[in-house]
Amino acid sequence: MPDSTLRQPIEFPKEAQIAAAVEILRRGELVAFPTETVYGLGADARSDAAVAKIYAAKGRPAHNPLIAHVADWAAALRIAEPSATAAQLAEQFWPGPLTLVLPARAGAVSPQATAGLPTIALRAPDHPIAQALLRAFDGPLVAPSANRSGRLSPTRAEAVQAELAQKVAMVLDGGPCRVGVESTILKLTQDGAQLLRPGGLSIEALEAALGAPITTGTAGKVEAPGMLSSHYAPRATLRLNAASPDAGEAWLGFGPDPSPPAPLSANLSRSGDLAEAAQCLFATLRQLDADGADKIAVAPIPNQGLGRAINDRLRRAAAPRG
Ligand code: TXA
Ligand code: MG
Repeated sequence: MPDSTLRQPIEFPKEAQIAAAVEILRRGELVAFPTETVYGLGADARSDAAVAKIYAAKGRPAHNPLIAHVADWAAALRIAEPSATAAQLAEQFWPGPLTLVLPARAGAVSPQATAGLPTIALRAPDHPIAQALLRAFDGPLVAPSANRSGRLSPTRAEAVQAELAQKVAMVLDGGPCRVGVESTILKLTQDGAQLLRPGGLSIEALEAALGAPITTGTAGKVEAPGMLSSHYAPRATLRLNAASPDAGEAWLGFGPDPSPPAPLSANLSRSGDLAEAAQCLFATLRQLDADGADKIAVAPIPNQGLGRAINDRLRRAAAPRG
């Protein structure tokens, strides 16, 4: 299909356009949609054929399971086993940037959605377009971040369009994402809560809600099947925790800019606000790529609250490429 015939993103879809998106999803096609964290590539979680299209579109390894998106906890209970702790967390943090991994109800979604695992990852996104879509669809939608596997997650519809336009039937545009990094993933078992991915909801908030510490596996290393060490990678290479830019390096700042400034530079938050930094992280890395940066020196980011998610994504972006 020549580029000129590609459908453009639908800006702030109304009811009729949400209904059209639902029709597309029911036919087993893909629809990209905004969430508060990043844009998702959505498909009917119950359809083997639709789920297979997600893996193909992203070039995603088949062993990397997907998050099932639901409107609320009641919808989650149709596909996961009940859990008092999960119910409490969902009550407090849903809709929001928290994914809960729970034992799956057998046969509730396509086995490919969970990559054959007995558990299922669930989240209720806090975005009016995602909520409208889920309520109209009235079923679970798997939605990985709408990027090619290993690349930066998209936080704007244009980034989805640029990377996946040929693979999706429709892109819903809800403007820039408010949170900017993916959801926090928490696995709940008999033994307690285990962090699989730091993200848009702080660990501090979760620990306060649970009244107990959250384990992060061995030596703070987090493990979800998809957390390959090189991920979220821009084209440029990254040098982290830099005091200042070396010759030939672009600068990605947090807090005051260095003096003299680098010829190519951007700042995640001059005032040192972690929420602002998370919100613009992926778009800023994409922009530095587009501006031709080869090497990017990155200022230190405090490792607390949203800073843990930012540092996790930066470490993966800086990791040796496979
Ligand atoms: O914020 C988000 O979570 C975004 C938006 C679109 O909702 N979605 C997202 O999906 O980040 P994705 O596919 O890019 O990341 C899902 C992560 C992967 O690391 C995967 O391995 C993990 O969730 N995961 C999914 N199911 C799991 C399970 N049953 N057990 C452990 N990890 C699981
Ligand atoms: Mg992803």
